Amino acid sequence: MKIEVGFDYLGEKNLPNFNRYKRKVASIDKMIKERSGLGNDYLGWLDYPLSVETSLLDDIVLTANEYRKKYDTLVVCGIGGSYLGSKASIDALRGLKSSDSMEIIYLGNSLDPNYVSEILDYLNKRNFAVCVISKSGTTTETSVSFRLLKEKLKEKYGDDYRNRIVAVTDETNGALRKEVNNEGYKAYVLPGDIGGRYSVMTPVGLFPLAAAGIDIKAFIKGMNEARGDFDNGDILTNPCYQYALVRYYLHTRKKYKVEMFNVYEPRLSGVSEWFKQLFDESEGKDGKALLVSSCTFTTDLHSLGQFIQEGNKILFETILYVKHPNNDIVIKEDKDNLDGLNYLSGKSLSFINQKAYLGTLKAHYENGNVPNITLTLDKMDATNLGYLYYFFMKACAMSAYLLNVNPFNQPGVEVYKKNMFHLLGKEGY
Ligand code: PA5
Repeated sequence: MKIEVGFDYLGEKNLPNFNRYKRKVASIDKMIKERSGLGNDYLGWLDYPLSVETSLLDDIVLTANEYRKKYDTLVVCGIGGSYLGSKASIDALRGLKSSDSMEIIYLGNSLDPNYVSEILDYLNKRNFAVCVISKSGTTTETSVSFRLLKEKLKEKYGDDYRNRIVAVTDETNGALRKEVNNEGYKAYVLPGDIGGRYSVMTPVGLFPLAAAGIDIKAFIKGMNEARGDFDNGDILTNPCYQYALVRYYLHTRKKYKVEMFNVYEPRLSGVSEWFKQLFDESEGKDGKALLVSSCTFTTDLHSLGQFIQEGNKILFETILYVKHPNNDIVIKEDKDNLDGLNYLSGKSLSFINQKAYLGTLKAHYENGNVPNITLTLDKMDATNLGYLYYFFMKACAMSAYLLNVNPFNQPGVEVYKKNMFHLLGKEGY
């Protein structure tokens, strides 16, 4: 398996007796497979990586490569599940300061006039194209930004604006689909049975990834490997379900309120954002669930680290650690040694970061009495990232069903929208 799930820093009292949950987990697994649980019409992601047509992947790569040749910037316009997966993946795989010829920037995820005008101003200097992504086709943040982007495209490129737009939306429904049909934009379909936060495996994630020069076939391959590895209803041997059960147990039996999801690389902070959406939006219903929050270490050890170590014992940690970083730097000997760092000469930053990880685990677990779950990946590449996402999506479905909530809807999100529409004077509100 590409991911090691570790419970060595959990504490014996926090580890459930897996045998006791054998039947429960097996019956939820059966329910998932038979698509008979709550929200079962949104389980399309389970088999999508297996059934996705090679011709679709080829078409995405072809179009993305044309874009890479013609343009220097792609604006991904979407919010929530319509952009978090692509941003997380591109940051994780290309890094935060990528020198790739295609820059990827994001709009449609905010109504802040400062942010939106900054991006629009910046686009004056760029040869840009747009990938607009919305399943419903009616999300305000995305629609408003897309309208502004179209204005900018028309102003800069006249009638060529249509050729610079790729849309990803529902096959038949929504305002964006209508516009695609009227305007003839290049478009891909987000299948009706896959919700936004489970959609990174579809063109929602795949087109931006391909435009960023990432191997989407390797990404899908990783998803398929995870699909095979975790297609097993036995809690004794399925680490994906073990992770879900341990979270559930810590929350319902041990009364922890927060799962702090931590990474040791800033380029993985986007994965934390994606992870938070996946679990918080899937599980936070009916007054239930853990709150998932996140830290990027070692940065946050100098802020939230104090709370984790000595504050209110409301949280446990889940650490995502990648053993071998894509780059490394060795500390050189300095003859003056004024900074006193020669004890680190010849050591790599990855070695030092790893000692920070191990030292923190020990400090939080042994001294701070904070349970830790460790998730270890050998390296970060497209295949391993696809694998990791699938692992989390499957764990999330199990975890939400253990809580007896629908993992695939988000009724609470509608409440602010209704109020906002009312305040804005939208018809019918
Ligand atoms: O996970 C989800 O379903 C949501 O986060 C949606 O992705 C988000 O609200 C954006 O919706 P849409 O793609 O319809 O614009």
